Amino acid sequence: MSRRNDKNLLVGLDIGTSKVAALVGELKDDDQIEIIGIGTHPSRGLKRGVVVDIESTVQSIQRAVEEAELMAGCDIHAVHACIAGSHVRSLNSDGVTGVKEGEVTQADVDRVIDSARAVAIPADQKILHILPQEFIIDHQEGVREPIGMCGVRLEAKVHIVTGAMSAAQNVTKCIRRCGLEVDDLVLSQLSSSYAVLGEDEKELGVCLVDIGGGTTDLAVFTDGSIRHTAVIPIAGDQVTNDIAVALRTPTQYAEAVKLEHGCALARLIGHEQTFEVPSIGERPPREFTHQHLAEVIEPRYEELFKLLRNELRRSGLEDFVAGGVVLTGGSARIEGIVDLAESVFQMPVRVGLPQHVVGMPDVVNNPAHSTGVGLLMYARQHRDMHGPELARSRGVKGTWSRMRSWFQGNF
Ligand SMILES: Nc1ncnc2c1ncn2[C@@H]1O[C@H](COP(=O)(O)OP(=O)(O)OP(=O)(O)O)[C@@H](O)[C@H]1O
Ligand SMILES: [Mg+2]
Repeated sequence: MSRRNDKNLLVGLDIGTSKVAALVGELKDDDQIEIIGIGTHPSRGLKRGVVVDIESTVQSIQRAVEEAELMAGCDIHAVHACIAGSHVRSLNSDGVTGVKEGEVTQADVDRVIDSARAVAIPADQKILHILPQEFIIDHQEGVREPIGMCGVRLEAKVHIVTGAMSAAQNVTKCIRRCGLEVDDLVLSQLSSSYAVLGEDEKELGVCLVDIGGGTTDLAVFTDGSIRHTAVIPIAGDQVTNDIAVALRTPTQYAEAVKLEHGCALARLIGHEQTFEVPSIGERPPREFTHQHLAEVIEPRYEELFKLLRNELRRSGLEDFVAGGVVLTGGSARIEGIVDLAESVFQMPVRVGLPQHVVGMPDVVNNPAHSTGVGLLMYARQHRDMHGPELARSRGVKGTWSRMRSWFQGNF
């Protein structure tokens, strides 16, 4: 087994409603990330993005992490994990401070961010991110990098993301039970944005939509910064459920039919071909046309896009997203989704695949892994905060310490 340079490994753990995916990325000399290991396992302990069953979530994480360790030839000790769910709230805030020595220093920036975070948030919510949008120095707006600039008054505009304390604690608990440390909890759509959006798109204004199994996560960027985030509790699971009800078939067959024959736009179906679906109980299997299936799927995607359009309008940013809408997440893989979304949003739409990393094209080309790949990119950007050692080459000592912490977590 090849020994990897310990310092250069990053680990992302995407705990989704449909799957848990652990991704190991190696940081190259040119700062590029190469994916060297991935493990995925179906997730059964989450509902709508939130942990509802600790035991099954722990098992899924363990399986996914073990698989990723085996593939990458390393021991994983700490991860960057994602958090999602309708408990996530966001707001814009600003702060102001005096510049102490005539030139902005890191201490001034820390102080102004601190003053911007002084907003009343409910006691059961925890701040997940404070994302700077822009700085204003002596009324000069639009400053991105204030350190070193001269002035007397420093203002900051920030986007604050909060999440339910209990939801964050439960995710952390599940990860710790597997003997792993949590370096950071990252908002799911923020993480996906790292993987699928380009800088020019964020500058121009873009709406990112991650349609997973349990939740659809939205993030709006303008002028290069995040302005609005929201979570809608409708996604692929509802589509599968609609198919199960309409075709009167068990959920697992409905899911299989969706993946194999699903189309989000009924008018794209130009043939009369049929497929067979098992029925419930002792009844014989029945045949349906692709047209019929698309007529079941389309209204649910349409409803979702209308909710997203309303959310975009409510945020007041609809006219500022000249870059259009970028769809990602597993449910963005369905045929016809771009045409349907364009007809609802009335703006350009594309499907965003994870970019900016190398290795394992089957991972890179799957929008279901946008969050996982984005976590690696987030980890790279914030690695100095946590020290370099996120994973270690496999060794006896590492395995023992993991077993010990696993036992400690269980008893
Ligand atoms: N080819 C496809 N066509 C339609 N739907 C698909 C396809 N492939 C995957 N999906 C759907 O994508 C969903 C899973 O997406 P993803 O892996 O992004 O979810 P997740 O990250 O686990 O969930 P969440 O982000 O909501 O917590 C499932 O509902 C699945 O049915
Ligand atoms: Mg997801």
